[in-house]
Amino acid sequence: MLKGMVVGFILGVVVLAGGAYYYFASGMAPVATADPMMPFERKMANIALRAHIEKQHVGESTEPADEPNLLAGADVYRKECALCHGLPDHPVDYVKMMFPKPPQLFKGKGVTDDPASESYWKSANGIRLSGMPAFKDKLTDIQLWQVSQLVAHANELPASVKKALVPDTPASSAASTSMIMPTHN
Ligand code: HEC
Repeated sequence: MLKGMVVGFILGVVVLAGGAYYYFASGMAPVATADPMMPFERKMANIALRAHIEKQHVGESTEPADEPNLLAGADVYRKECALCHGLPDHPVDYVKMMFPKPPQLFKGKGVTDDPASESYWKSANGIRLSGMPAFKDKLTDIQLWQVSQLVAHANELPASVKKALVPDTPASSAASTSMIMPTHN
């Protein structure tokens, strides 16, 4: 009886592993950005990411969400993030070109329901196999917190900060390397 159960269990594992291997090796799994999600793909990725971030205990922000920090965050955002994550009322073409899509952080609730520490971790370390870069070697710790406070408070920004979150004007963009691409629709 016990032997039968053990053999059944092992067979079950072998069939499952074989099935999963066949799914990927036979070319059935989606690989293009336009392909639909794999079964449970988003859920599994989110569970793994959440658990990992929680385990790392980022701690509280060293930078309060005050106007000077939010303004500094807006400056970082325009230079490093707007290209993929858009500006208020200015979605970008990459939304349609990437998988997973870069969420538009000034549209809807963005990441205002995540603590700044979660966005800090994601901005510092990136998100593997997603196109979200790791900025920890490019931005200072203070800049990482400033931009994380900005996206965490995207729904309640002072007017001065909103004013800073606009695409480059043609005159200023000639002098900068920023690549903000408004969608044409
Ligand atoms: C090259 C494109 C690109 C750039 C530049 C980029 N990101 Fe991302 N980002 C992504 C993509 C794609 C995702 C979605 C990842 C996913 O769904 O797993 C993402 C996800 C995120 C998330 C998580 C969103 C959520 O809903 O949980 C945050 C926060 C974030 N990015 C912040 C930033 C910040 C801050 C910057 C600038 C310092 C930045 N990103 C620059 C592509 C980019």
